[in-house]
Amino acid sequence: LKMRIDIITVLPELLRSPFEASIMKRAIDKGLVEVHFHNLRDYTLNKQKSVDDYQFGGGAGMVMMIQPIDDCIAKLKSERDYDEVIYMTPDGETLNQQMANRMSSFENIIILCGHYKGVDQRVRDQFITKEISIGDYVLSGGELGAIVLSDALIRLIPGVLSDETSALTDSFQDNLLAPPVYTRPAEYKGWKVPDVLLSGHAAKIDKWREDMAYEHTKNRRPDLLE
Ligand code: ADE
Repeated sequence: LKMRIDIITVLPELLRSPFEASIMKRAIDKGLVEVHFHNLRDYTLNKQKSVDDYQFGGGAGMVMMIQPIDDCIAKLKSERDYDEVIYMTPDGETLNQQMANRMSSFENIIILCGHYKGVDQRVRDQFITKEISIGDYVLSGGELGAIVLSDALIRLIPGVLSDETSALTDSFQDNLLAPPVYTRPAEYKGWKVPDVLLSGHAAKIDKWREDMAYEHTKNRRPDLLE
């Protein structure tokens, strides 16, 4: 099973490089995911290729027009069915691991990146099935959010991560933060790795990691334990 992500943007050049490195690149190379960028300007019908216009009622900031977005989404939908048409926006549902886990089994998704004051409300009413924020702060556009969402989903696709990079021990799986990790040397400038990790006692090590994950979560993110 392969995932396909279609990202609609006015800034495709902002999107490329994160997909050309590390785990996302490997997932694409392995054929486990396809990511396609669609430049909204290619769908404009006016000579200036503008994608935005002044807002009705007045006020600062431009609004992205419905026509290029409609035509782009219509073209994609004529080629395949989509599980969700997602709009990245600070007033969307805040992304978390549970949402990523659920969405990682989708086959086809569209991610629309907003800019300026956002898109004409009719785009949201007519085409968007899910609105996602990556946190309570405002970015200059939805592109960075689309990268964050794509990364969170792609690493969960079966076959993308190896045993060594398994998602099962990540923070937020089981609503716990990850325990601390150490590597060689066992002592550096007098700073020691906890003895239990060097003990070779698998059950004790598991117990220590569980205890540390719980302690760490209680200290930093008590809200996760509620
Ligand atoms: N676009 C602008 N700010 C955003 C945010 N916080 N999350 C997702 N998309 C955005």
